[in-house]
Amino acid sequence: MRPKSHHMSSSFKASLEYAQEQDQTDILFPFRERFLFPQHNGRDVHYFCGNSLGLQPKSVSYLMQQELDDWAKYGVEGHFEARNPWFSYHHLFSERLAKIVGAGKDEVVATNTLTVNLHLLMISFYRPEGARYKIIMEAGAFPSDMYAVETQVRMYGYEPENAIIEIKPREGAHIIEEADILEAIEQHGNTVALVMFGGVNYYTGQFFDLKKITEAAHRVGAYAGYDLAHAVGNIPLQLHDWNVDFACWCSYKYLNSGPGGVGGVYVHEHHCNNPKIFRLGGWWGNDEKTRFKMEKGFIPQKNAGSWQMSNAPVFNMVAHNASLDIFEKAGMKALREKSERMTAYLEYLLKQITHLSFEIITPTEPHRRGAQLSMLFGDKGREVFNALTENGVVADWREPNVIRIAPVPLYNTFEDCYKFYEILTGIK
Ligand SMILES: Cc1ncc(COP(=O)(O)O)c(C=O)c1O
Repeated sequence: MRPKSHHMSSSFKASLEYAQEQDQTDILFPFRERFLFPQHNGRDVHYFCGNSLGLQPKSVSYLMQQELDDWAKYGVEGHFEARNPWFSYHHLFSERLAKIVGAGKDEVVATNTLTVNLHLLMISFYRPEGARYKIIMEAGAFPSDMYAVETQVRMYGYEPENAIIEIKPREGAHIIEEADILEAIEQHGNTVALVMFGGVNYYTGQFFDLKKITEAAHRVGAYAGYDLAHAVGNIPLQLHDWNVDFACWCSYKYLNSGPGGVGGVYVHEHHCNNPKIFRLGGWWGNDEKTRFKMEKGFIPQKNAGSWQMSNAPVFNMVAHNASLDIFEKAGMKALREKSERMTAYLEYLLKQITHLSFEIITPTEPHRRGAQLSMLFGDKGREVFNALTENGVVADWREPNVIRIAPVPLYNTFEDCYKFYEILTGIK
């Protein structure tokens, strides 16, 4: 554990005054103004659900209107004449996304949606052959990931019970030990085709050491790929330097790009450039120079763009554009600094509560978590959750008995955290 968290918590105070002081000196505080908050009794709710659906940037409606106007004005010519030409719309995102995930701009593309991208990337990177056919993943992965992996192994004629190795927490624990992941990879050795993990587990909020897992996968000759739904825009990543083979994410959580918003793909440049890496074809993944020649023969682009299928879904990308501008201005470094501190503050406050029976199952160490705390209730969880909702808190409930709360550094405040604590204190 890094000493920093102890250092932080020793100065914390459970008072409104203290929380407001933190907000006054927070350089990111003004960013809150850029978002629209749902209302409760005429006031902004305490929104702790940015890990599920991020809030709407105020600039979205203006930017959406711009696309509607350009469509009205130009019709089909908008592909080239629109202020942001639709023909190349996806190029708007690469540089900004690359900074968020720690990659080169040719290694990322905003395209499709998360589960679709996971399948497309597994088509490229899960190529079971002979003795090498297993996929190692975390137990308790998000259901969509489980279904994707299950059906991929079935597609090649394997039984999931045999081909999928799930790494579980140890008896009585909630968090998966990193050592157990590395050991399993080594133990299954050259039978492993792919190691596929969620960067941050959606239920516990545990952030995995992607660099170490990638190294271990490569040592046994397997690929390493990640679903970064809960990590992107939450925790700074270095996908390229960590040698990660592929990753995908959604944009509607920390990236605030709206329900079902466009997904993202990362593929390491040495795979992008490798024609032997098989990819399913569609015209938007084809070499841009020959795309309109309408000829036979798919020539994939030599970048992550080759995992695109269809022309850019512009209306589904407008909010992404608005949100990535905000990320560009705030910067992942400042966001992470605030996030570590604010999550630690919320944790400190929750630890003062003794009259409700719950346990925080998210790791305590800042480097093993992002902006989420998962409260596991023995009983009364659902009642507590309902009482929170009645008091203007938006949190989320995950079966069987967890309340997840995410203090998001772009728009949550220390005061939000204090209010959450105060409301919890009042729940009997
Ligand atoms: C880890 C993870 N995987 C997959 C999904 C499903 O994503 P989509 O419906 O965008 O494909 C989610 C959605 O919350 C998720 O958190």
